[in-house]
Amino acid sequence: MHSMLMECRQLSRSYQDGDRELQVLKDVNLTVHAGEMLAIVGSSGSGKSTLLHCMGGLDKPTSGDVLFAGYAIQDWSANQLADWRNKELGFIYQFHHLLPEFTALENVAMPQLIAGVTTSAAKARAERLLRRVGLAERLQHRPAELSGGERQRVAIARALANSPRLVLADEPTGNLDDSTAEQVFELLLELNEEFDTAFVIVTHDNALAAKLPRTLTLHHGQLAQAES
Ligand SMILES: Nc1ncnc2c1ncn2[C@@H]1O[C@H](COP(=O)(O)OP(=O)(O)OP(=O)(O)O)[C@@H](O)[C@H]1O
Ligand SMILES: [Mg+2]
Repeated sequence: MHSMLMECRQLSRSYQDGDRELQVLKDVNLTVHAGEMLAIVGSSGSGKSTLLHCMGGLDKPTSGDVLFAGYAIQDWSANQLADWRNKELGFIYQFHHLLPEFTALENVAMPQLIAGVTTSAAKARAERLLRRVGLAERLQHRPAELSGGERQRVAIARALANSPRLVLADEPTGNLDDSTAEQVFELLLELNEEFDTAFVIVTHDNALAAKLPRTLTLHHGQLAQAES
């Protein structure tokens, strides 16, 4: 049995819209176990990104708790949060968010350098990761010199650079054609097995979500087990 990694308890997030309150998340409860992989689906505007932002400490819930390995992240300082994100979390977005002026290798080395790893060790690991995601021939390419699928592979390698325990992915294949999306999704499944990293993947694509062991649907601000 895997231990509990992240827990959202009675998580609510609302936004003030003029004089009325827009409640996006209402008492959401979610447990992510170490090494597990789960999909979150839901219509546009249902709050999927808001939930991931709260889980990643990028947004603060209006009420409720996010616990990581038993610790409430809202109690941490900005520096502690930044350090935690760097070492324990990986992020993958719909658009790659790679640094345009740096090569694939440098982009994957960057989070390691921030964590204090030496340049030679960071580059060696970056190269191993890029080889693993199928980009052995693309180490020195800049993002503009890569295809959409290749950029997402670099973004995946970067997310894994510091061996995080949890990767949060927001529409990681949303910008790719169907067959490239499927390949990238298969890669995520393989990496989950190999590295024992937990993945929470937001997707619009029900067929891709169905490949994962667990799918939850966000609807009316609440998470429910998806019907299969
Ligand atoms: N900073 C903000 N201020 C006010 N409202 C916001 C803010 N951020 C998000 N919202 C609202 O919260 C709701 C949920 O947004 P969110 O981005 O989480 O949806 P989503 O499920 O990720 O949608 P999509 O699938 O289109 O990415 C939307 O109605 C949005 O307009
Ligand atoms: Mg979104």
